[in-house]
Amino acid sequence: MRYLFRPPGTDGAELLTLPWHQPLEEWDPDLLLEVPQRGISRHVVRFVAAQGKVFALKEIGEHLARHEYDLLGDFEEEGLPSVSVLGICVDRPDGQDAILVTRYLEYSMSYRYLFSRPSARQSVDQLMDTLAVLLVRLHLAGIFWGDCSLSNTLFRLDAGALAAYLVDAETAERHPSLTRGQRHYDLDLARERVGAELLDLQYGELLPDGVDPIEVADSLPVRYASLWDEVTHEEVFRADEQRYRVAERLQRLNDLGFDVGEVELVTSDEGARLRVETRVSAPGQHRRELFRLTGLEVQENQARRLLNDLRSFRAYLEQKAGGPVSETVAGARWLAEVYQPVVDAIPPELAGRLEPAEVFHEVLEHRWFLSEQAGRDVGTTEAARSYVRTVLPSMPPELTTPSVIVTRP
Ligand SMILES: Nc1ncnc2c1ncn2[C@@H]1O[C@H](COP(=O)(O)OP(=O)(O)O)[C@@H](O)[C@H]1O
Ligand SMILES: [Mg+2]
Repeated sequence: MRYLFRPPGTDGAELLTLPWHQPLEEWDPDLLLEVPQRGISRHVVRFVAAQGKVFALKEIGEHLARHEYDLLGDFEEEGLPSVSVLGICVDRPDGQDAILVTRYLEYSMSYRYLFSRPSARQSVDQLMDTLAVLLVRLHLAGIFWGDCSLSNTLFRLDAGALAAYLVDAETAERHPSLTRGQRHYDLDLARERVGAELLDLQYGELLPDGVDPIEVADSLPVRYASLWDEVTHEEVFRADEQRYRVAERLQRLNDLGFDVGEVELVTSDEGARLRVETRVSAPGQHRRELFRLTGLEVQENQARRLLNDLRSFRAYLEQKAGGPVSETVAGARWLAEVYQPVVDAIPPELAGRLEPAEVFHEVLEHRWFLSEQAGRDVGTTEAARSYVRTVLPSMPPELTTPSVIVTRP
């Protein structure tokens, strides 16, 4: 027998003592854990605990096991929402299938289970929207799933928000990018499988009254289409509303859980056309990227927000210059011309009430609010002035951290 584990050794050590030579179905029940809320599966799937952690084991042909192992490994590296793979066991005696080992996704439930126990907190609408988000994310990354279903999707609460994870990548395919036809085919498969599973739940009297399987399944392509459009469409703005409309769009994408790669503004007679490249990114990436470009050290969500502003500023510089402006130049100019003036606008007696990056974030919100009211972009300087005059003084002084020293980057 051979074990291929990543990272080699560590997590897997205690797992090696398990009876890998036996068919999974014959393993001593004392070794196994009951996972009641799991989805239905084609293969034999069992759960074990080792070194205080839970793992899922799936018996599956070697070729597929290797395929799934490779893909899940890539997904994890790229920060895509999927279960994390530990390894595979191959060359088992008597020509037995391989076993794929994944780390149990903690605090997760299968969609199938959730649909049979609806709660006020997770409505059918929210569940279907979250499933649509997962598909859009995978499709943006060039992944054709081929088996999106309620059983193959896990669900988790993340700081109050809902998040869906891919659990079964056996049929998944990786492409540089997906065609419209591939996306729609994948979506069609998903709609069929979700519909069939809901009908099955209904047949077993596990589906609450008032949930119509076909209606719910048919809503998936609709939700997907509007999300795809929101994430990928090009917009045209008038020149005087550009900056804040770009910021608004980027914020909307972030709120939906998407990150922005590059922003391109192309001027034409009708105004500026905005093209946004949406992508999925690994955790902590924003902090590192902002630090690289500006030397600022802030928290992840703040970094995400600041980077968006930096990117829209860069697009504005490029448009003005009529040619490309490097990231480094844009970063330095943004720091000096946009960020620092806001920080400098904080009067000494109010400094320390909020972290500078948090103030900047609030000023961006304030700019958006003022621009909405005025119907034009009021600009960061005016927004900062208004913010320190009207909002900052009302921040409770007890939030002030005495040890905060406001330093210039
Ligand atoms: N890593 C994991 N974390 C949590 N649940 C899992 C994990 N792997 C599998 N499961 C559960 O087991 C079920 C079957 O696994 P799956 O990979 O879909 O097998 P199959 O290929 O036979 O469909 C899933 O629906 C899910 O509920
Ligand atoms: Mg499955």
